[in-house]
Amino acid sequence: MTGKEGFDLVVVANRLPVDFTVGPGGEIEWKRSPGGLVTALEPVMQASDGAWVGWSGAPDLASEPFDADEMRLVPVTLSADEIERYYEGFSNDTLWPLYHDVISPPTYHRTWWDAYRRVNQRFADAAVAQAAPGAVVWVHDYQLQLVPQMIRAQRPDVRIGFFNHIPFPPLELFQQLPWRRQVIDGLLGADLVGFQRAGDAANFIRAVRRLRAHTTRGPIITVPGEDGRDRHVRAAAFPISIDSRRFDELARTPEVQQRSREIRADLGDPDIMMLGVDRLDYTKGIRHRIKAYGELLQDGRLDVEHATLVQVASPSRENVDAYQELREHVEGAVGRINGEYAEIGHAAIHYLHHSYPPEEMAALYLAADVMLVTALRDGMNLVAKEYVAARSDDRGVLVLSEFTGAADELSSGALLVNPHDIDGMKDIIVAAAHMDHREQRKRMRRLRRKVLTDDVARWSESFLGVLTAMPSRVPRRRPEDDEPGAPQDAREGAGPGWEADRTVPTGRRVEVSV
Ligand code: G6P
Repeated sequence: MTGKEGFDLVVVANRLPVDFTVGPGGEIEWKRSPGGLVTALEPVMQASDGAWVGWSGAPDLASEPFDADEMRLVPVTLSADEIERYYEGFSNDTLWPLYHDVISPPTYHRTWWDAYRRVNQRFADAAVAQAAPGAVVWVHDYQLQLVPQMIRAQRPDVRIGFFNHIPFPPLELFQQLPWRRQVIDGLLGADLVGFQRAGDAANFIRAVRRLRAHTTRGPIITVPGEDGRDRHVRAAAFPISIDSRRFDELARTPEVQQRSREIRADLGDPDIMMLGVDRLDYTKGIRHRIKAYGELLQDGRLDVEHATLVQVASPSRENVDAYQELREHVEGAVGRINGEYAEIGHAAIHYLHHSYPPEEMAALYLAADVMLVTALRDGMNLVAKEYVAARSDDRGVLVLSEFTGAADELSSGALLVNPHDIDGMKDIIVAAAHMDHREQRKRMRRLRRKVLTDDVARWSESFLGVLTAMPSRVPRRRPEDDEPGAPQDAREGAGPGWEADRTVPTGRRVEVSV
């Protein structure tokens, strides 16, 4: 680390990449939690002297910054009240449903907005305190959309990237938000705003034009500065991925292979094992999937002696009403279907309300003949990619919702479904269950080529590559540029800087498709 001057790369995310426990003497112990984002960023963090600013996940937990795995971890403290208003409230009961096509109605509370602003300011201040002069600051996700502008206000010297892990909604929905302009301004504090899909970036650019009247040309937005200097903000798609090699290797280990055989045996060696793996979230289409599955049993197109569905639903945001209602619905439906169709030794649906470690997930993926990803809306859906990475045997069928970011990338090998079309989904589930091995292999190979090549390291390299190649300053606006008839390029600043070498901090040159 550079110590005195600060860190060259500062990641800001709602959660820290660690879990903590309180020891017998009341002391806090941190344990690494191997999430996708940290795997992606660890090599760049270690190579470029990085700090990570985030929340511990518990109320009122104050801790000094500390080092772990060659990263500086900087905890942000949230009170119980802030967790309720900023995290459960504004982030997960306002923005989350609004950005996911209002599948559940968003709630708008002014007190939640106040807490969101206050907490975003705290994250921004913590990032500012860590950033070295000229550092790169990379802010993540919908919980922190005001942070880019708040950092820029204090530190015009740093480069700021923002990546939205969830969808960005169409203007017609986004404009419901009473604080829509503040959110747009918050994001425009960044130099580069990244999204999962080209459609999300297009939605954002349209919202900028309609709500802020800034000039846009292709992916470039011109933001007038108070000092007379325009800034250029780029908005583009950078579809996220997983550590595909790690998952591939994990699924090849004898322990995981053995565990996957055990799972099938424990299920009574069904001919067809179907699998759903989701956070228990209303965006994931779990109810639609279970409905379709129940009807297939009712119609006699599937039967419990030959087929079974394993549904892993990991607990999530359990204090938010919409999540509690979903749990009741899902568990009610599972109970009814099992009551109706299960036989001794043959459950219709094995419902598991737990989280599992990656080893167990890999074994489940390997055991599953059909993977059901039927989200109603999903930024990317990494489960779809994990399933593919685990299947080095080229077997298995991925049924994938059109409404996931992953569908933009995996349409050549997956069977795409519209989860709202229950009859259509039933036909596709049956087709997946009966797909012959040759067809499975052909499709899985296409999927694996994509997932193993476009991994999460490539994702972070391409984002940081574009961000660090952006010109840090735009020429001062001359009065004559504002006159009618002035050449467009002069006003929109599409100068040669945009063609700058896209070299990432690790020194590896990357291809970018933005
Ligand atoms: C989504 C969001 C993440 C979030 C995760 C888990 O993937 O994009 O930002 O961390 O869900 O949700 P939680 O509320 O438990 O952090």
